[in-house]
Amino acid sequence: MSAPRTDAARIAEHVDRLADKHPPIDLASADYSVRDPRAVRERFGASLDYMARVEMEVERNVLELAVMLPDVGETDRRFYADVWSPQEERHGVLLDTLAQRLGMPPVEANTGDVPARVRVLGALAHLSPVHEVIRLLYYLTGAATEKAAMLAYRKMSDGLAAMGETAVQRTVVDAIKVQEPGHFAFYRLSAEEMVRSGALAPWQMHLARVLRSKAYSLVGAKSAEQRTRFGGVIVDLGLDDDLVRCAEDVSRLETQLLWAHEEGLKVPAYALKAFRDAAASYRERVGGRLVAA
Ligand SMILES: [Fe+2]
Ligand SMILES: [Fe+2]
Repeated sequence: MSAPRTDAARIAEHVDRLADKHPPIDLASADYSVRDPRAVRERFGASLDYMARVEMEVERNVLELAVMLPDVGETDRRFYADVWSPQEERHGVLLDTLAQRLGMPPVEANTGDVPARVRVLGALAHLSPVHEVIRLLYYLTGAATEKAAMLAYRKMSDGLAAMGETAVQRTVVDAIKVQEPGHFAFYRLSAEEMVRSGALAPWQMHLARVLRSKAYSLVGAKSAEQRTRFGGVIVDLGLDDDLVRCAEDVSRLETQLLWAHEEGLKVPAYALKAFRDAAASYRERVGGRLVAA
């Protein structure tokens, strides 16, 4: 394969660049003035709440990473602890503050409990070949998360602009939106480097495929309730108009790296199903409410 060469030095430089170019957003730079708070709340309230929670739970994700990747390399550690997490935590504060200014309650985020399944992975990760499989899955999950965030913030930004809410569009949503592609690029470069350098044996790639298929989860959606809410974000942001394309975009990196042998595959079936089920579950709930009303 004549893919562009990516290597450890290039990834470390990327992390340095992100640290230089994208310091955590200065909270004082946000202008929360909103012309019609009720309209913004009705249009984007559920999405703001969801994204704020996901951003704030990065604090827990950092704890999980320390458990899941006990033998983490310096570039990975520097990225998640020194660059990514401080940026994402500010994203959470900005979105939560905006939501509260719109009259919503503070976001409820789980920032502390490392789940049992992460501890099990962490125990297995002390075996070096398993560690490397988990590291690949970390990159793929990260890439899917960042891509989903990019799609969501793009829709929010366009919607706020159309409503004439340019203060929060520019100083909150766009300020956040511009930091996500650099995160995505880190995961993409890292995963490509791992797969294309041949660091993983065929059985490790097979294990990665099995684990990903069995344990796929949508961004921030571990419980049935959270999956329904994820469906709400998809529907509210209009991403369900082209749900297949959305699932393809979010899954593109893993489609290319994990499923390259399945020629012509555009999106893994498990990912498309997760998106469809979430949207259907939300529609069912809303439909139920309409009928009840
Ligand atoms: Fe973010
Ligand atoms: Fe991000």
